[in-house]
Amino acid sequence: MTPLPCSLLPLLVALVALLLTTTLTHAVDQTKFRTCTQTGFCRRHRNKAPANAYTAALLSSNPNEPYKFLLHPGKGYTQTHPNLSLTVDPLSNGAVRVRVQENNPATARWESSDILLPDGLVRCSSATHSETPQTVTISSSCSSPDGEDPADVVVSLSPFKITVKQGSEVLMSINEAQLFHFEHKRSKLGVPEPTAPTQSDPAADHHNGKKIVGYWEDGLARYEDGTTEVKPVDDVATMVKEDEDGFWEEKFQSHHDAKPNGPMSIGVDITFPQKSTKLYGIPEHASSLALHATRPPPSPHSSSKAPKYKDPYRLYNLDVFEYDLDVPMSLYGSIPLLISHSVDTGRVAGAFFNNPSEMFIDIWEGEGMGSHWMAETGVMEIFLLVGGSKVSEVYKQYSSLTGTQALPPLFSLGYHQCRWNYKDEKDVYAVHKKFEEHDYPYDVLWLDIEHTDGKRYFTWDKRFFPNPVKMQQTLWEQGRRMVTIVDPHIKRDNNYYVHKEATAKSLYIKNADGHSDFNGWCWPGDSSYLDFTEEKVRKWWAEQFKLDKYVGSTPHLHIWNDMNEMSVFNGPEVTMQKTTKNLDGVEHREWHNIYGMLFQRATSEGLVLRSGGKERSFVLSRSFYAGSQRWGAIWTGDNAARWDHLAAAGPMLLTINTAGLSFIGADVGGFFGNADSQLMVRWMQSGAYQPFFRGHAHHDSARREPWLFGDEALQMLRQAAMERYALLPFWYTVFHTSSITGMPVMRPLWMEYPKDANCPALDHQWLIGSDLLVCPVVQKDAVKVNCYFPGNQDWYDVRTMQVQQTPTSKWANLDAPLDTIPVFQRSGSIIPKKMRLRRSTEMMKNDPYTLVVAGDSAAGELYIDDGHSFDFENGEFAKRRFDFADGKLTNTKLGGNWGANGTCKDWIERIIFMGVSKRPSKVVTSGGQELEFTYDKNTLVVRKPELGVVDDWTLQIIS
Ligand code: GLC
Repeated sequence: MTPLPCSLLPLLVALVALLLTTTLTHAVDQTKFRTCTQTGFCRRHRNKAPANAYTAALLSSNPNEPYKFLLHPGKGYTQTHPNLSLTVDPLSNGAVRVRVQENNPATARWESSDILLPDGLVRCSSATHSETPQTVTISSSCSSPDGEDPADVVVSLSPFKITVKQGSEVLMSINEAQLFHFEHKRSKLGVPEPTAPTQSDPAADHHNGKKIVGYWEDGLARYEDGTTEVKPVDDVATMVKEDEDGFWEEKFQSHHDAKPNGPMSIGVDITFPQKSTKLYGIPEHASSLALHATRPPPSPHSSSKAPKYKDPYRLYNLDVFEYDLDVPMSLYGSIPLLISHSVDTGRVAGAFFNNPSEMFIDIWEGEGMGSHWMAETGVMEIFLLVGGSKVSEVYKQYSSLTGTQALPPLFSLGYHQCRWNYKDEKDVYAVHKKFEEHDYPYDVLWLDIEHTDGKRYFTWDKRFFPNPVKMQQTLWEQGRRMVTIVDPHIKRDNNYYVHKEATAKSLYIKNADGHSDFNGWCWPGDSSYLDFTEEKVRKWWAEQFKLDKYVGSTPHLHIWNDMNEMSVFNGPEVTMQKTTKNLDGVEHREWHNIYGMLFQRATSEGLVLRSGGKERSFVLSRSFYAGSQRWGAIWTGDNAARWDHLAAAGPMLLTINTAGLSFIGADVGGFFGNADSQLMVRWMQSGAYQPFFRGHAHHDSARREPWLFGDEALQMLRQAAMERYALLPFWYTVFHTSSITGMPVMRPLWMEYPKDANCPALDHQWLIGSDLLVCPVVQKDAVKVNCYFPGNQDWYDVRTMQVQQTPTSKWANLDAPLDTIPVFQRSGSIIPKKMRLRRSTEMMKNDPYTLVVAGDSAAGELYIDDGHSFDFENGEFAKRRFDFADGKLTNTKLGGNWGANGTCKDWIERIIFMGVSKRPSKVVTSGGQELEFTYDKNTLVVRKPELGVVDDWTLQIIS
């Protein structure tokens, strides 16, 4: 590209930014983003006919190593293909790790050491195997979830296929549809010349009885007679043809991808048997929870519905401006985890295809469900998650590999108020004051990019924010925190200390030459991007958050990481050229989808470092990958103030939760455009029951703080926010459980009711944990909502405290006037709340608890700690269990040291029993003390029991 005169650059950047931020059209320009047909590797894999291309032979079954097989290209294969190595490794966590790579270490592919946790990779030491001429069966007791048949991994040898079975039940298979295709690393024909053998060892000079004169870059031998280790003559024709199909270069719009390493893509099908009802996962897409078919099944005999989408689901983190709904286009984050579930058997299985390069995934419905994975490069590494009849088993395995949801600081579960931008300190104080005046609970006020000095992160625009420390302290005195935005693009300004240091230390991503710093356009204009794939860069970045480095910051300031896909306004598909390189010289093509996660990780580590390792961090990120759950919260990016976007938020958040990432939300009110009071109320209601709860708006949107919609709307908005705050003890407990088990916080109904045929596709309603059912209204002017009540128990309306639904009638068209979001508590549960409604989590700290007991036999848990430090890791917490049966409520310890020395003064001020059929004569504690109560409409309220939360006690209702 011809360099532009410097004077024109700011103008152009402003123009691009304007184009990117204008709100006129509200629809994505789809032509900016590649489809499968416009992408060489996807086209090649998708068009490949199923072929019996590979056979497998067991090479080694040494108990100290994974089972190793040789994969040999079969006759049907026309391309030049070396032998491959397949390893199958049952893990101690019950999952099965499958890897395919080139045999030759000289061709080792790049893989990240920053995704998988070592504990998750511990091998199962008790695996055994048996062989027949056609199969090798590997059995491991480690793959047996409690009380279930152990899982067997059957490797069929010709053609090669891997099947996971429990008893006679097939859970999933790899290469059942014979779509396996592996583009081996190679040199472009004739370029460069093969290197001569360097070793004098005759064995290195001869192979197959022929003299070797050289090696191709990929390690394949070239013989004296002009042949190579593979068939050379056919290859010429094949390679020339391949060359035409985007092997060595590709163009998209004005961008050219030089592809110096040529074709290295990999692909295979993963199928789930006949009884699989639906597939879920592989976010992020603005689509439904249950995945749609994108192609017909490969087997012509299978019956199938016409595919809904033409393109496969794509995983390539992108800043998609004004994204469309109901499409398989990629968005800001990627988690290559697919979950299959069968209503028929109640069984669950998963596949985690761990590869951070660009991917497309075709889905089909036929006899069972199938998927075809196509990745541009990288290692073929698949973790087969053997859930069996336990959903929790899949999440136990997956989270042992990628981590559980980090326990967020309590304040971050409150309400967050954001806008692009709160203009100046006056604005901040005014907004804060209004929240106070209106008794409207909120915890955090956010500052977007305009607070900085010319988009130089870690700085303040002194004209508007002259006293940032005082501002943060003032808010903190009233229990509120602040968040500032810090993006990964660094303004190329030689007077900016961050840029100066990053340049001097050479911390930026490089151009294709591997030396010069990449320069692209983002908010600040000319920008370079720090290489977060490099540990030393992450460490350096973490230092930037120290209070003396980040001038104007305080311990009560937390961070928002945006544009980390990475967003490059003038790059292909608004991201960076694939040929740019990290500091190790590895092409961006290899690690694109983990960049955003590693950025959020470095920031999160920075905040922890700032506190001397004492405080939990809060970092919000837009981009994500498998494992992002360890580093903070995520939101669904630039949605719009439209009813269809409100409706889309539920399914999107459910999908992301299904992929193991629980702390997720959507901009309340919608980012682009204007929300009227009705949309705002409905969105606030919905958001209050979603894990991350933040209002945000574009700078062109009309101001939308809650009091700007009139008094009536304000009351309703406030009511929704108050409902959130009252439930914080419950949210915190569910998050804590997720941090131990990996189970999603916001759950689709099928997860709790896997055998209920009505549940698989339901995504307009959801569960929080297993006990609260939320049926939000997401349609304009609707005052009724159709809600499904699963399970064989009653559901109690949390407002009226009456049974809404008995198991006999599952569907109900509920009244939901504008001031109401229908929410129900499961009979059989006990939910902890705090009902003294305050204006922030900080102010609620010492408030007493209320327990809400639903039904005559119920149980529930409560987790408490200090809400902000890591002391809980040393036992500084209390986990309690409440049980109610035969009129007796007991509180027992599940774990934690709190209470041991009388330091925990938390107490219970009220216990509500719903579904008590007649007025009791008295309620007494185990110490014989009679307690005050009221009784009305089957609801018993025990007042002021003044029982300690961390004390063991019993309370008896006497009829
Ligand atoms: C991106 C973010 C949006 C933010 C804006 C300015 O569009 O998605 O939330 O307000 O950038 O920083």
